[in-house]
Order: sequence, then C-alpha cells, then structure tokens
Amino acid sequence: MPVTAFAIEEKYKYLDGLRAYHQSEALPGANPIAQNSPQIGPYELLTECISGSAFASPRAASSQTWLYRVSASLDRGKYVSYPSQLTSAAEKERPRTYDPNYLTWKDFGMELGHDWVTSQKVLCQSGDIATKAGLAYSVYAATEDMPPNSAFFSSDGDYLIVPQSGVLDIHTEMGNILLRPCEIAVIPRGIKYRVNLVGGFARGYICELFHGHYQLPELGPLGTSALANPRDFQVPTAVFNGTVIDNVATCEAANWTLINKFNGRLFSCTRGQTPFDVAAWHGTYYPYKYDLGRFNVIGSLLYDHPDPCIFTVLTAPSYREPGTALVDFAIFPPRWQVMEDTYWLPPFHLNTMSEFVGMIMKEADTSGDLVFKPFGGMMTGPMTPHGSTKKEHEEERSKEFKPKKIATEPFLAFLFESEAMMGLTEAGLKHAESK
Ligand SMILES: [Fe+2]
Repeated sequence: MPVTAFAIEEKYKYLDGLRAYHQSEALPGANPIAQNSPQIGPYELLTECISGSAFASPRAASSQTWLYRVSASLDRGKYVSYPSQLTSAAEKERPRTYDPNYLTWKDFGMELGHDWVTSQKVLCQSGDIATKAGLAYSVYAATEDMPPNSAFFSSDGDYLIVPQSGVLDIHTEMGNILLRPCEIAVIPRGIKYRVNLVGGFARGYICELFHGHYQLPELGPLGTSALANPRDFQVPTAVFNGTVIDNVATCEAANWTLINKFNGRLFSCTRGQTPFDVAAWHGTYYPYKYDLGRFNVIGSLLYDHPDPCIFTVLTAPSYREPGTALVDFAIFPPRWQVMEDTYWLPPFHLNTMSEFVGMIMKEADTSGDLVFKPFGGMMTGPMTPHGSTKKEHEEERSKEFKPKKIATEPFLAFLFESEAMMGLTEAGLKHAESK
C-alpha cells in the first residue's frame, strides 16, 4: 500500500488537496456567504485576512486566507526580546563560515529541557532575511511541550518540517496537524501555532524559506500525475477554542504569550486571549502535511541513473534562473532498481547546487561504516565533488544485474538541494566534520 504504516494513529480530520481553495467551519455557517467582510459577521466574529503574497500577484501566485475570529491579531501588548538559543542575536551576528569540503554531522545531539521553539538551532543559512532572499537549514530536538498558553510564528519564512523521531501535535490557527516521522509539514510565515509532544522527545530538520513559498514541481513529460500528487496533501480543519452564547462567539480571558521570529531574532508579546479563536476560514494560504509514503516514485527503466530532481516532493523556484530551485526537497524512498549495464549508485559528480542530505530512518547498521546516522547529515557546496565510498564502488562494480528493491524499509533519506552556497553558523560548525 502506498501509505506509511504509522505507529501513532491519526486523530484529526483534514481537507485534501494542495493549492485548492479550501474552506472550513468549526461553527456551522461561520464563513459569511459570498462577501468576505460583512459589517457584522456570523456569530459576531471579526474578519481578518492573512496574505502570503502581494495583493496584486497574478492569480497563480496569489495566496491569502480570510479568518473569522473572536479577536484581531493586533489585540496584543508590545513585543520585547525573547531569550533563546534559537537563532539568537549572538549567533546571527557572527560571520558565517563557508567551507568547500565535504561536511558530515554524525548526530546533531539533544539537550534536555527545550521545547519546539527553544530547541531550534540554525545550522547554515544563505541570503538575507530582511530582503526576503535565501533560506536556512535548522534542526530541532524538543524534550518538552511549549509552555502552556504560548504560541509561535515566524515572520521570516515558510517552515518545512521534516520529523526524524517523535510525534508533534501542532495546533495552528487554522486547525490541528499530527506530524509523525515519514510525514512532512509546511507552516507558512505568519501563521500562529503551538507544538506539544506525543509520547516523548521529538527531533528533526527544518528548511525555512525566506523567499516565496513551496510548491509542487512541474511534471513535464511525466504527464498528469506522478511524484507527490496534490490530492495527498492534507490541510487542517477549523478548531474553535471558545463557546457560543446567544449566537455570539466568545473566548474566556486568559494570559497568552506570542513568540515571533523576526529577522532571525525572537520577540514575545502578551495578549489577553487565546490566538486559537478562529471559528472559520477560507482561502489558499494554509498549513499542510504530506505522508512521504504516498510519493509516486519514478525512475529509469532500462539504463543509466536519473538525476535526483526526479525525486522532488516540493520545490521553491529561483527567481534568477529558469529551472533552478532556491531549494528542492527530494526524498530517496524504498524503490525498485532495474537498469541494465548501469552504475546503480549516483554517479561521481560535482554540480552548481549545494546539497544537504539528512536521514529519517535507516536499518540497523552493524558494519560501523555509516557516514552519518538518522538525525545526522552531510553537505556539499557548489562544485564539491562527491559520490560512493570505495567499498560501495567495489560492490557496485561486481553486482549481478537483476531487479532489486533497494533501500528496503525502514529507510528514508532526504535532500535539500539549493542554488545557494550555505554558510555555517556556530551551531552548524559545532558537530561538523570537514574533509
Ligand atoms: Fe549530489
């Protein structure tokens, strides 16, 4: 079956389809009919619009959602600095280190006592958040729920979350997402959410995109369906944390803290009510998740090895060169290899892109020659040569040609491939081996 057999059962309901215009109501009739902004809306809810694109964007790129909520987001106190190791001011201001060597991280490690926000560490970054250029790769390793009555959002970019271990229970303004290893989620910039852990610690990888949004890759000659199909993306449904009294939606007064990542620094403010007071929403700007087990793998059927872009799940196109990605998120799932007279491993190569490879799952390794473990990684910069190890190379040259399922389950590796040269932060340098 082309779905992942998850150990933790799903507990939420979703809408199916990426880039579709979705609408969801936690209270019946809470979305106004036809108009977006009535003088007094159903349940006397306020109208708030969150735009992920410029107002005058072409329809294909336009992305915004109308929210119907008890209190507007502007109803809050003043932002002040929020201390954390996450992209702390000190880390941001240090010069980044650029290394042309082959970099590996055996394991990114974990410290006790951190939550979703405070456990995040930026490993490397390119571009400039303030000019909405570039991206950053981070890891998280949370051992705690976020503090009660706190929520987080990034003004800097869209978060692509790739869990390696542990389950995240994500409550967003637009509804809830249960995120398990072998699933990914995207939370666009500006959407508020909080993260609790299910059954213990959780760790994984984040690719934050400062420019534009993630989208599905073009399919070209592949035709109408292949790779990640739009219908398999799951969008949360509205959840209203309040009550209705005399046909008026209300929420109890409570002290909440909002944490905002803004140009790489964290700020926090207080507000007198939950941010999860959205009774309905409609639009095209929303968080979503995707089960990587549903990926429709395409490959070579006779000879030679395809480029890794054939495994792209989501892409963020570059605005500089056609066909180039600011980042492609690709996976290397279990699949059949059948090519004849072919070197089945990726050929030795060097290219203009930088590549960061992470591991979600791997069979138990007894050989001891694993270059990096799950929750480790490797990175090559533009024109840094890479390919098989000597041992892999020798095994490959003497293999017998017969169809074989490679990377049998459990195995799942992924690739962030970017046009950008990534500069290492101090946290990135800390665990890196360079050769
Ligand atoms: Fe490569």
